[in-house]
Amino acid sequence: MTEKKRKLKVGVIFGGRSAEHEVSLVSAEGITRALDPERFEVIPIGITRNGQWLAAGNPLQSLSAGQAEGATSVTLLSDRERPGLLQVVSNADSQSLQAVRITDLDVIFPVLHGPYGEDGTIQGLLELANIPYVGSGVLASASGMDKIAMKYIFQAHGLPVLPFVAVGRGRWESTPDTILERLEAALGYPMFVKPANMGSSIGISKARNRETLKMALDQAARYDRKLVVEKGIEVREIEVSVLGNDDPIASVPGEVVPSNEFYDYAAKYLDNASGLLIPAPLSAAQRDEVRRLALRAFLALDCAGMARCDFLMDKHSGVFWLNEINTIPGFTPISMYPKLWEASGISYPELVERLIDLALERHAEKQRIEVTR
Ligand SMILES: Nc1ncnc2c1ncn2[C@@H]1O[C@H](COP(=O)(O)OP(=O)(O)O)[C@@H](O)[C@H]1O
Ligand SMILES: [Mg+2]
Repeated sequence: MTEKKRKLKVGVIFGGRSAEHEVSLVSAEGITRALDPERFEVIPIGITRNGQWLAAGNPLQSLSAGQAEGATSVTLLSDRERPGLLQVVSNADSQSLQAVRITDLDVIFPVLHGPYGEDGTIQGLLELANIPYVGSGVLASASGMDKIAMKYIFQAHGLPVLPFVAVGRGRWESTPDTILERLEAALGYPMFVKPANMGSSIGISKARNRETLKMALDQAARYDRKLVVEKGIEVREIEVSVLGNDDPIASVPGEVVPSNEFYDYAAKYLDNASGLLIPAPLSAAQRDEVRRLALRAFLALDCAGMARCDFLMDKHSGVFWLNEINTIPGFTPISMYPKLWEASGISYPELVERLIDLALERHAEKQRIEVTR
């Protein structure tokens, strides 16, 4: 028999326990469609809003339709020799359980945005299972998710970060007046108040005076025990896509033109009226500067595979402030991350394939690490 090269089994994980569940489904559909069927076999793995893992059948369709029944519930087999997916079934006596291997897995593409996906938790699980996976590892994912940790790391690398103050929820609740005075003295109005770990602009508001600052802090405190308050400036929002491992490349910069006063949840997902300018209208010197900063930010956090670096450019002075890094950026065919690569000469299918190769390369590189016995 003439043996054709075995196809790589790519587990695409989507859905999940975050506000960006729906975006994740659209991203996963795009990625699945773009994977070359000659080289890859896609194993779709959906995670419900409750955290249940589904495989077999058509989990993408089940989750899109909002019905998880009928799909097979699975668990990841953390077997360093032969990672795969297991279905756990209860025996006829309903007292004991039996595990059935459904499939092996060669590599995972986690397409989960926000908490429990982009924050290092699933990356930790994949590390334990010894499966190569697309994107950043545990630490880069976690610090990319936590706006306070991220800012400290950027500052330590001399990267430009807007003045900010970290506030503990407990402190805000026990000594509100002290906190308000400290913020007013350190930052002045307007301020942006954010939960440290979130995304999609959830819990973020702009405060113009003491009254709205109090409301903003209460609002952010609903989502995290750590809050970050930043100096608010008038901005243009410039984003750069980064691709690679130790020697990454940066795309042309793009610009988001929010439909609302700032890029809030509605402007991101609901009103469909925000515009993307690709490439961003910038001078050659500005383009170079922002791309260089994006690469430095990627390396500062020790990201891998992909990341989208978001900048706040001061409308008046033209200064670029590093706002955040997203380690699993939106990946729908109309999302900024793949669009910027298209504009830089890398098509969507080529991008997806490169990311899988980068995951395999990173994994192989890590195997060199000596483990003490
Ligand atoms: N310091 C700031 N000054 C002006 N606008 C800001 C500032 N911080 C955030 N914004 C606005 O709020 C949006 C969401 O903030 P961001 O930190 O990117 O949170 P998320 O992680 O939810 O995307 C930004 O895209 C921008 O429109
Ligand atoms: Mg953002």
